[in-house]
Amino acid sequence: MRKQIVAGNWKMNKSLEEGLGLYKAISSQTEASSKEVIVAAPFTHLSSLVALAKGGSVKIAAQNCHHELSGAYTGEVSAAMLSDLGVTYVILGHSERRAYANESNALLSKKVDAALAQNLKVIYCCGETLEERQSKGHFDLITQQITEGLFHLDASVLKNIVLAYEPVWAIGTGQTASSAQAQEMHAHIRKVVATKYGKASADTTCILYGGSCNPTNAKELFSQNDVDGGLIGGASLNAANFTSICKA
Ligand code: PGA
Repeated sequence: MRKQIVAGNWKMNKSLEEGLGLYKAISSQTEASSKEVIVAAPFTHLSSLVALAKGGSVKIAAQNCHHELSGAYTGEVSAAMLSDLGVTYVILGHSERRAYANESNALLSKKVDAALAQNLKVIYCCGETLEERQSKGHFDLITQQITEGLFHLDASVLKNIVLAYEPVWAIGTGQTASSAQAQEMHAHIRKVVATKYGKASADTTCILYGGSCNPTNAKELFSQNDVDGGLIGGASLNAANFTSICKA
């Protein structure tokens, strides 16, 4: 059976004090969770969260990293720095970074390498805009995002990659993909992974859904065959909502 994962993406929200409080509430309420629970926090919170998370079950993630190990990159944070802190995961390729920071699949493939080389696990995001879906280009686009970002990797490191399908039109809009739309794309993604790495590898790859996932729709989304949990934005900022999704 595949691992089930629920990851909260706090984005650029919460003061340090608020974040630590939220983390404590989440970790105490998800101790018995059968799913792996992850919190992706702003860089400034990671050190304190890692210290708090020691010995607990909730894993800490960063929301980005640079593709170089070190150097003259003012304002950037390297995978080595995250690894040094004790961070477990890094989210790469979130649609907000693709859109606002112009991150391309080619750049993301370098970031993936940098992260894996520092023993970080990667949550690699893909997703189409509404226009891309309406013009029926969404399957090809997702194939391309995955192929160009990940398919240079050796099969042996695939276990350190979690995929997240996040339709851009569903992120922060309250307009969730239907469970059928999610399942259809997740099955497509798994097929693409199987074509490259074989069915056994594809069958053990975790594919999360993200985009307006909430306590009301999580159960149905997570019950789809190829949906192995969620990447949660807005609803992860509230302990009760997030833990309810973790229990879905
Ligand atoms: P949302 O965000 O749950 O607020 O739609 C999801 C994400 O961006 O990861």
